Amino acid sequence: MTTTRFLTGITPSGTPHLGNYAGMMRPAIAASRTPSVENFYFLADYHALIKCQEPERVHRSTLEIAASWLAAGLDPERVTFYRQSDIPEIPELTWFLTCVTGKGLLNRAHAYKAAQDKNAESGREADDGVTAGLFMYPVLMAADILMFNAHRVPVGRDQIQHIEMARDMAASFNHLYGEHFTLPEAAIEDDVATLLGLDGRKMSKSYDNTIPLFCPPAQLKKLIGAIVTDSRAPGEPKEVEGSALFQLYQAFATPEETAAMRRAYAEGIAWGEAKQLLYACIDREIGPMRARYEELMAHPEQVEAALQIGAQRARALAAPFLQRLRAAVGLRPLSATQASSQDTHKAAKAALPSFKQYREADGRFYFKLLAADGRLLLQSTGFAAPREAGQAIARLQKETGALQALAPQLAPVADVDDEEVAAALRALASAADS
Ligand code: TRP
Repeated sequence: MTTTRFLTGITPSGTPHLGNYAGMMRPAIAASRTPSVENFYFLADYHALIKCQEPERVHRSTLEIAASWLAAGLDPERVTFYRQSDIPEIPELTWFLTCVTGKGLLNRAHAYKAAQDKNAESGREADDGVTAGLFMYPVLMAADILMFNAHRVPVGRDQIQHIEMARDMAASFNHLYGEHFTLPEAAIEDDVATLLGLDGRKMSKSYDNTIPLFCPPAQLKKLIGAIVTDSRAPGEPKEVEGSALFQLYQAFATPEETAAMRRAYAEGIAWGEAKQLLYACIDREIGPMRARYEELMAHPEQVEAALQIGAQRARALAAPFLQRLRAAVGLRPLSATQASSQDTHKAAKAALPSFKQYREADGRFYFKLLAADGRLLLQSTGFAAPREAGQAIARLQKETGALQALAPQLAPVADVDDEEVAAALRALASAADS
């Protein structure tokens, strides 16, 4: 019944390449057509400033990436597609989260630790060249996600830690100020292709071995010509294993075409011929999009208009939500002190999870814990007496640790994770304290 909200960010710091397309854009656009999911895709341009301090490059890349997504078939009707820096609520939320985030948590972030390790290796001071922006990056990313209460965040494996940190920040904020944030989860796509680049290593702009997604046909042909192959002559059988050329072909061909190419390798197809087939296969898919891309690049105002529609939709959610968060942390008009503190207290009460006790046809006594929106979070097994059920509830209300102790009395509930239950119990406990 409830729709799942997916959200992901793309940092505009380069030109999209075939690897980005096959690994991320194409599956994301396909996923956005699934009913009962809501999608938020955005250009993480505040993030770009962490790695790239060339203004023209950030600007150009934002246009190229937005135009690429639109040309590749992203439908702004189905996807809320926006630019991070158009949502001023995000940096404000970043500050709220900064103030509930342990510095020690950020010390453990991989990106920061990697920078420190590099300095250590080369005998420099630990924080040499490390900006506070790099250090704070996980907080900005958490704000991106929590601003829209996303459930699932499609990211690469290297980003899992950031999603876990976002959960931690959400839980800390919820614990202090009431249940405002959904705890997000990473959505890892294991079977999407990571393409190999021209030199046979992973296709990546940091290796400078990419094929730009929408380069002109002549350049595409030239780059395909430059893909490394071994020195086997025409007629000699060839290996598909580890062949960048074969792998690229597979990413764009039908399964039948791929099977045919596999046979052609075994039968000794000439590299030149395989490259021609690869070119034709990529161009079949990309060619029609390229025309649209070129049109958008020639009319940046069309891209801007699409992003503004997205920004409006996103802000329609972010602005009122941020007002609630401001009130929750104590930033509200002085004239409204009395009334609004009562209101927020009432609202917080109304938004609390609740325990329900009942008797089943089997004559036994049960309880369940419902989230504020009525979703089932916990379900007990049957107790012989109402008192026993009541005592279990009392224990759960006092200490979340009771969750483990009472596990044998609880029945499994699908689609609810322990952290959410723990957060609900903490919210009840802190409401009882206040
Ligand atoms: N940091 C992500 C990356 O480098 C991009 C990003 C920024 C992001 N904010 C996000 C991804 C929020 C998912 C959700 O790939």
